[in-house]
Amino acid sequence: DWTPDSFVETTIAALKEKLGDDKVVLGLSGGVDSSVAAVLLHHAIGKNLHCIFVDNGLLRKDEFESVLESYKHMGLNIKGVNAKQRFYDALNGLSDPEKKRKAIGRVFIEVFDDEAHQVQDVKWLGQGTIYPDVIESISVKGPSATIKSHHNVGGLPDFMKLKVVEPLNTLFKDEVRKVGKALGIDPNILGRHPFPGPGLAIRILGEITPEKVDILQQADAIYINNLKSAGVYDKVWQAGAIYLPVQSVGVMGDERTYENVVCLRAVESLDGMTADWCHLPYDLLAKISNEIINNVKGINRVVYDISSKPPATIEWE
Ligand code: XMP
Repeated sequence: DWTPDSFVETTIAALKEKLGDDKVVLGLSGGVDSSVAAVLLHHAIGKNLHCIFVDNGLLRKDEFESVLESYKHMGLNIKGVNAKQRFYDALNGLSDPEKKRKAIGRVFIEVFDDEAHQVQDVKWLGQGTIYPDVIESISVKGPSATIKSHHNVGGLPDFMKLKVVEPLNTLFKDEVRKVGKALGIDPNILGRHPFPGPGLAIRILGEITPEKVDILQQADAIYINNLKSAGVYDKVWQAGAIYLPVQSVGVMGDERTYENVVCLRAVESLDGMTADWCHLPYDLLAKISNEIINNVKGINRVVYDISSKPPATIEWE
């Protein structure tokens, strides 16, 4: 019988056997899968697991610092890498969504490869791949597509020559959460909404600038904090704010303003393949809108996305 506890026990024993005294590098994202994979590996091999957490400058407000802190608290051997400027430089002048995705994927691989090189004699790459990722990569994109689709022409980065260890590749998402709970991982990490790898870069329509990131982070934080304090966050599958490249006229005191629009999106879904927009209470939307407009400089209008998937995707880009 499968239970989270028996899975934890047998997996840790199997990892010990498989890895011995070998070193493993693993990229943490702040998400559920990579976090659970890291904690399992940590139980098996301790300090021989070298975790890397990259700040791409496209995370939620204060996310890098707070997530890094909770990883350290769990005892993980982790290095936080501030690579914001490298990502902003690569994104400079790009507005096409796929070009932005490719640039981010490329820089991530460069940064990760640089960091993996600092770990002497590393033999393995740890990944938080779960069963649906395995199926998807075999049926749609070919094996290892998650890395290769981001991959640029030229030689393979050195870390791709490593052997791969994927302790969660037989599990579904709900099982990963149960295993995470059995391992005592912070419920704040286990309960997180999905967040795309390219982060806020695909929630800022068009060109990315650090100023737009800053504005969107502020609006998004107000939105998410209100969902949490209203007890709605855990009922929503995914929520986030989107920075629209649209300016509209407003009045602030006696002044005419001409500023940007933020759109709020919240969806219910089982797997992200289809999704319905959430019927958030009007008074909650009103509170969030007021708070954003009164506190976030550069935003004078807030709208709510009432489109379901299909045809509207969850992300706008
Ligand atoms: P869409 O927008 O296609 O999103 O309805 C479905 C789910 O996938 C996430 N998503 C991404 N995740 N890299 C990721 O790691 C991406 O480029 C990406 N694009 C979309 C999205 O947040 C949603 O959970």
